[in-house]
Amino acid sequence: MQIQENISLKSLNTFGLDARAKYFVKVETIADLKVALCLDAYPNKFILGGGSNMLLTKDLDCLVIHVALKGIEITDQSEDEVLVKANAGENWHEFVLWCLDHDFGGIENLSLIPGNVGTAPIQNIGAYGVELKDVFESCEALNISTKNIETFTKDDCQFGYRESVFKQDKKNAYVIISTTLKLTTTQHQLHTEYGAIASELETMGISEPSIQDVSNAVIAIRESKLPNPKEIGNSGSFFKNPIISKSIFEKLKTNFPDMPSYVVSQNNVKVPAGWLIEKSGFKGKTFIDYGVHKKQALVLVNYGGAKGSDILGLARLIQKTIKQIFGITIETEVNII
Ligand code: EPU
Repeated sequence: MQIQENISLKSLNTFGLDARAKYFVKVETIADLKVALCLDAYPNKFILGGGSNMLLTKDLDCLVIHVALKGIEITDQSEDEVLVKANAGENWHEFVLWCLDHDFGGIENLSLIPGNVGTAPIQNIGAYGVELKDVFESCEALNISTKNIETFTKDDCQFGYRESVFKQDKKNAYVIISTTLKLTTTQHQLHTEYGAIASELETMGISEPSIQDVSNAVIAIRESKLPNPKEIGNSGSFFKNPIISKSIFEKLKTNFPDMPSYVVSQNNVKVPAGWLIEKSGFKGKTFIDYGVHKKQALVLVNYGGAKGSDILGLARLIQKTIKQIFGITIETEVNII
């Protein structure tokens, strides 16, 4: 374990922002993680996983601990289900592919989501009708103050829409070291009801899809709409879709009859933030080296060389404009550092 100084984090955040860490250490074992957390010479520490859900607006004047714990194992198996444990530093999509190779079903709709396994529970990643919580069994997390490893069940995690206890009460108190999922080995429950998947499968000429087919459909949809972070820096959806009351929605409908919505409870609906942003005229807007993606307005992009503070300025302008036009507050999904 070697502590380095003045390290660029450009290749370690999917926005590709050239923020620097004053001190940097990569940890590949739990023992090293504990040692790094105990280094009193560096009182301020920052935990970095896959760097897929953060906007670095400044250099980090502290010790950045990059969690790179690898390994995937089957911990239990019954007739038609399996428990698979993956360590936090495994790349999420590669983990999905590993599960598909073993014909384990449940996360095929979550194909191609950027980031690592350790970040997945923090924001309860979700796409195309499936959320991590649907297959989540437990996760292990290192308590930063006691240095003990604790197990969190699904209930403990208090999952919500892009939410968990790790973004609320237990924020910055734990480092997730592994995640265990319960997946199917036979009779896979496919989720193809999300419109775009069904039509993509039809285009592919598939009437009885396998989990691999669903994954391929999701990959095709994502590649057609979402920029590949290896080519254009981005962090997926920058904002959460706002949840508003049905009564407010009905009032808004008189001025904006084409406003889409999804029912989330008896009294509330979710409105696509992408639609609000597009309607406000921001879709595809480019400011030299950053802007709003041309094909999906929910995604802010770094075309290369942008500063995190520029992108934050654009995000704040979008939030303010949407508030002025629709009276709706949209929250960032991405963590602003
Ligand atoms: N829309 C527009 N203009 C746009 C984008 C979207 O009008 O530029 C409207 C359309 O009405 C469209 C609707 O928004 O039908 C929904 O769009 P989409 O299916 O692309 O989904 P989303 O609500 O924009 C969410 C997740 C994505 C996830 C997709 C598919 C959030 C914040 N985002 O996006 O997650 O891939 O659904 O399930 O919930 C991510 O979290 O990084 C992410 C990409």
